[in-house]
Amino acid sequence: MKDMNPDALVLGIETSCDETAAAVVRGGREVLSSVISSQVDLHQKYGGVVPEVASRNHLERILPVIDEAISLAGVGLSQIDAVAVTHGPGLVGSLLVGVSVAKAVAFALQIPLIGVNHVEGHIYANFLAFPELKPPLICLTVSGGHTALFAVQQLGQYEMLGQTRDDAAGEAFDKIARVLGLGYPGGPEVERVAREGDPEAYDFPRALSGETTLDFSFSGLKTAVLNHLNQRRQKVGVAGLVPGEIADIAASFQAAIIDALEEKVIFAMERTGINQVALSGGVAANRALRERLQRSTELRGGQFFAPPFDYTTDNAAMIAAAGFHRLAAGERSELSLNAIPGLQFGN
Ligand code: KG4
Ligand code: ZN
Repeated sequence: MKDMNPDALVLGIETSCDETAAAVVRGGREVLSSVISSQVDLHQKYGGVVPEVASRNHLERILPVIDEAISLAGVGLSQIDAVAVTHGPGLVGSLLVGVSVAKAVAFALQIPLIGVNHVEGHIYANFLAFPELKPPLICLTVSGGHTALFAVQQLGQYEMLGQTRDDAAGEAFDKIARVLGLGYPGGPEVERVAREGDPEAYDFPRALSGETTLDFSFSGLKTAVLNHLNQRRQKVGVAGLVPGEIADIAASFQAAIIDALEEKVIFAMERTGINQVALSGGVAANRALRERLQRSTELRGGQFFAPPFDYTTDNAAMIAAAGFHRLAAGERSELSLNAIPGLQFGN
């Protein structure tokens, strides 16, 4: 470890989308505090995140959130050894708030700063939750902005095995929730309604199934659900859908997403010979997905990991943990660190 104390206290800051979050993590694994201030209520009435509203809100909340994280951790600001901040991908105005504050803290305390990729943060949620977890592992990252499969051979090294060619899985959940007249964010709503429905009621497409690629595609599925709904509504009118129809559509849609994700995870296990599978990102909160992946991983003699719900949504503990490992490897960001909305990840 290059001039990093193994018990170093890292302040993590996350403002890439609509959660203002700060956390203090010791030694990359022990979470002393993790504060998340969600803006969901603010964006609900618009049916999605409004970027300007999000950044203005981060600006109001970020310092009280950091203050709370420091005091809950039971440490003084002066005891913080380094600052880790999400610098991409995400909404530029939102990212800039976190990056600016992180730079100010690092500058004032004269401590190292590290910019962290949000996707790497999501993967690290698993290392935080399962201290015994060691690479190699396959990680399926499914969020509102990303859907990708990574092979993690070593901490900090990510080979992208495949990714979505169009919509992210969470984005598909959100769009389908909207057309079904369900609330925002869509994933939890679709999951709730799907519990009452029949997943085999409709045979929606599983794109790229049976093909050797580890990529995903969800835009055809979204279109198929939309076409089906439009045809039905033309026939029966909006109010005329029979009871249970929405639940059946939600369940069949969710089943199509889960089937596609499961098939590629199994294929990735076979291709790489890696038998540890970890799930990350907002969609990792989906119980049906967790249960299915757990079953199929264990059936093949593997082990499945999914972080507790607090670590599946955007949080700063995962950013502090990922930042710690980069700092320990000797990496540092300059005080000129910038927000990069389209920051890429994996090689
Ligand atoms: O990781 P995240 O909090 O933000 C991004 O980095 O995108 O992920 C948010 C996404 C949203 O699309 C939301 O609908 C989805 O995760 N999500 C779910 C569930 N809970 C959240 N999708 C399916 N089932 C859920 N239970
Ligand atoms: Zn996220």
